[in-house]
Amino acid sequence: MAAYTFIGPITQLLTMSGLPLRGPIADSELPLFENCGLLLRDKQIMAIGNYANMEEEARQVKATFILLEEPCVVLPGWIDAHTHICYAGSRAKDYALRNSGATYQEIAKKGGGIWDTVQKTREADITALTNGVIRRALRHLQNGGTTIEVKSGYGLNVEEELKMLRAIKQANRKVPVDLIPTCLAAHITPRDFESGPVEYLKLLTSELLPLVKQEGLAKRVDAFVEEGAFEPSTIRPYLKKAKDMGFQLSIHADQFSTGGSEVAVAFGALSADHLEASTDKEIKLLSESSVISMALPGASIGLGCGFTPARKILDAGGSLAIASDHNPGSAPMGDLLTQACILGAFEKLSNAEVLAGITFRAAAALDLQDRGKLQQGFLADFSIFYTPHFSEILYHQGSLKPDRVWKNGQEVFAVDNNK
Ligand code: NIG
Ligand code: FE
Repeated sequence: MAAYTFIGPITQLLTMSGLPLRGPIADSELPLFENCGLLLRDKQIMAIGNYANMEEEARQVKATFILLEEPCVVLPGWIDAHTHICYAGSRAKDYALRNSGATYQEIAKKGGGIWDTVQKTREADITALTNGVIRRALRHLQNGGTTIEVKSGYGLNVEEELKMLRAIKQANRKVPVDLIPTCLAAHITPRDFESGPVEYLKLLTSELLPLVKQEGLAKRVDAFVEEGAFEPSTIRPYLKKAKDMGFQLSIHADQFSTGGSEVAVAFGALSADHLEASTDKEIKLLSESSVISMALPGASIGLGCGFTPARKILDAGGSLAIASDHNPGSAPMGDLLTQACILGAFEKLSNAEVLAGITFRAAAALDLQDRGKLQQGFLADFSIFYTPHFSEILYHQGSLKPDRVWKNGQEVFAVDNNK
């Protein structure tokens, strides 16, 4: 028998429904319910409407009533569509080195950077890796994240990449958040692989990707297209193979130099992520394609470099998702709302554009059609903030945290106000 839950009265509820996938959004366009009730049927949203009018309907279906006595705002759960939260070790040393003048690329060349995390991740057993993912995912959940994409990419050989993807799968069973795995074995060519990038990528397509598919470990493949990682011409045959095998693609593109976004467009990737170095040419290309541009302000903050040209992308008619890129190297902070708000302040994004970037536009970047908006039939994934107006949440730039978080129609986190 179905279980019904009726929640309210809610001072403001933003559905994020009916908004465009691409281009600018004004705050005046935000679909807002006031003094409303939210009726859930099992893990889905059944109805949203005037609280008083809905009370009778809720009683008839014998709903459990969740009474909200304080002024409160309800928003869809955040969707963080780009993270690397499966890793071991710390790169605090890299951070200090960068702030003393070394660049990310220089550190990588000397064997630090990604390779440092690869060594630590290989040393960790699967249980330790799984526990790390669980710990970080639960922190995202407390900040309002209900869906988190998680990449491999610190194993960089068949066995170690499988270990990472299995750890993500195990963690997914133990946390209420949905973890969406992506195979990023094409992060860099590992230093202990002597035959070079072309042979490394061939090994991935002949040995790793078939196993990933067979074991159902990931439906998505990512690649780091960059100087010092993979050149566009080197990565193309790999992406073609991955696509032919049925994997969906996302690309680390235009982080320090351009070239990656063109590849993302050519292969019909779901998203091109980073784009800090994109010029007007790349922005035009992206906005004329179906590829979603993904800004990663956490990496700009971690590296102390410029932000993705988010305003220009939207004004050109592109779609903009915003993700945390949570990783031990360039983006250790891992607080999506804070980062999205900071990007908004620097890039002059409306509140609506910031919220769209971490809800339904992020869902589209993961090809998930059942979340990112609060409407009938969608997953009941949402946060409750005890504040009278949604603009307070953005104004506080992430320091105003959710008081309660719901995932699949269940409360999975609540602030203990007695502590
Ligand atoms: O998205 N740019 C490449 N990959 C990650 C960083 C990984 C790392 O430095 O460990 C990123 O920023
Ligand atoms: Fe990344």
